[in-house]
Amino acid sequence: MEQEKVIVIDFGGQYNQLVARRVRENNVYCEIYSYRTDLSKIKEMNPKGIILTGGPNSVYEEGAATCSRELFELGIPVLGLCYGAQLMMHVLGGKVERAADREYGKTECHTDTSSALFADVHETTTVWMSHFDYISQMADGFREVAHTDNCPVAAAENPEAGLYAIQFHPEVLHSVEGNKMLRNFVRNICGCAGTWKMDSFVETTIKEIRQKVGDGKVLLALSGGVDSSVAAGLLAKAIGKQLTCVFVDHGLLRKNEGDEVEAVFGEKGQFDLNFIRVNAQDRYYAKLAGVTEPEAKRKIIGEEFIRVFEEEAKKIGAVDYLAQGTIYPDVVESGLGGESAVIKSHHNVGGLPDFVDFKEIIEPLRNLFKDEVRNAGLELGIPERLVFRQPFPGPGLGIRIIGEVNAKKVAIVQDADAIYREEVDRAAEEYKKANGQAPSWKPDQYFAALTNMRSVGVMGDERTYDYAVALRAVKTIDFMTAEAADLPFEVLQKVMSRIINEVRGVNRVFYDLTSKPPGTIEME
Ligand code: XMP
Repeated sequence: MEQEKVIVIDFGGQYNQLVARRVRENNVYCEIYSYRTDLSKIKEMNPKGIILTGGPNSVYEEGAATCSRELFELGIPVLGLCYGAQLMMHVLGGKVERAADREYGKTECHTDTSSALFADVHETTTVWMSHFDYISQMADGFREVAHTDNCPVAAAENPEAGLYAIQFHPEVLHSVEGNKMLRNFVRNICGCAGTWKMDSFVETTIKEIRQKVGDGKVLLALSGGVDSSVAAGLLAKAIGKQLTCVFVDHGLLRKNEGDEVEAVFGEKGQFDLNFIRVNAQDRYYAKLAGVTEPEAKRKIIGEEFIRVFEEEAKKIGAVDYLAQGTIYPDVVESGLGGESAVIKSHHNVGGLPDFVDFKEIIEPLRNLFKDEVRNAGLELGIPERLVFRQPFPGPGLGIRIIGEVNAKKVAIVQDADAIYREEVDRAAEEYKKANGQAPSWKPDQYFAALTNMRSVGVMGDERTYDYAVALRAVKTIDFMTAEAADLPFEVLQKVMSRIINEVRGVNRVFYDLTSKPPGTIEME
């Protein structure tokens, strides 16, 4: 049976993936296509519904992103959001004009609950507005079904034609009942059964990979992070031994991490693939000897990775595909996400190794958000430990050891970090058991770092002159700004005492209280 799907047509708005995600949350599969996509291709996909996103243009501007009238005459329900709503009116003969003032922010909206779009929605509901232009005249056949004080047509419908227009953004959480409206559209108006689940994504993607790859060879650089691990799992299930994963252990991983990755993806693991682990610890330590400047360290670690990967790729020879664990936020941040504007360039996208001889790139997770990737990972049976791993920087412990990196310092920071994470996890788990929810202090990222400071202490009756470990724990949503987490003092004390007792070479433990800015999350 064909997978029922809704298509989102991207006009360059910032929230377009969020629209797709909301649709998927209602158990309907959804994909995004540029507004430049041929109408014939859209027809071929046989969607149950089409959603037009917002966008930065004005419909009446020359060269503005547009669509053809026929899109509205396919007999497929269409929902226009913001720019998409204005475009629908404009193309069908209504009028869109620039308002004197921009309407922006949370707004009270009055809805006509006899519209199928607003079934079960309150008559007055808070929505998120962000527009300059407004619909001053609806196209023939439409009636207004929502308005705000400043916006005469906040929503309109022509149910006979299956056309719906919403000026605000139901996809953002500030629109309190927005999800209900999107659900009404996809489930009731488009008639989707809502049987899609993450396991269908996994199944469908496996089929697609098989079809695309045929009997070709695929190469993937596996870091052991969530994204590349889930990509590896999907590819392995799809094409087995046609996949080769190269995992470079640069000796800057957390305690036991290299072995954990090998346990899942190596010969004795649960997947059938070619797994190559390169133990490059000594090479890295040799290159890093005597280097103290943070950027120089990062550069060496990055370049050495390319060198190691290049050597392995040469041994493997030509491949048909190079796979990457790119996920949607990487794509958006790099400005490669269809029509939206560049926000910042990202290390995970672009910069393809030019020494690998391949025909095409495969990015099976390109449309997913992080939590969706994690769900796919669970579906694939990848252990929770790996699936719920915290973010870990590419240069690894290399940027958590201030100053020169060497094997001894790596061992210290690995041991201290393992104790710290174990105690924080244990305390959070106990709290959850007792209170039914995670504690408010549960950090989004937490790790130990090794300062470059040695100081005098006393242990037994002996004088010591050892290193100080710094504990970092932050609360953050986007990792762009962060606050130090207020970990319970007893937890910190226990961590301190265990580190001092169990890790040789450490005689002091500090807790880093710095927020970001002015600090960064990592220390280098
Ligand atoms: P900062 O230290 O910039 O870190 O506040 C923000 C987030 O990014 C992670 N981070 C990196 N991730 N390669 C990565 O893949 C890197 O070079 C890198 N540097 C920092 C950091 O762990 C935090 O989550």
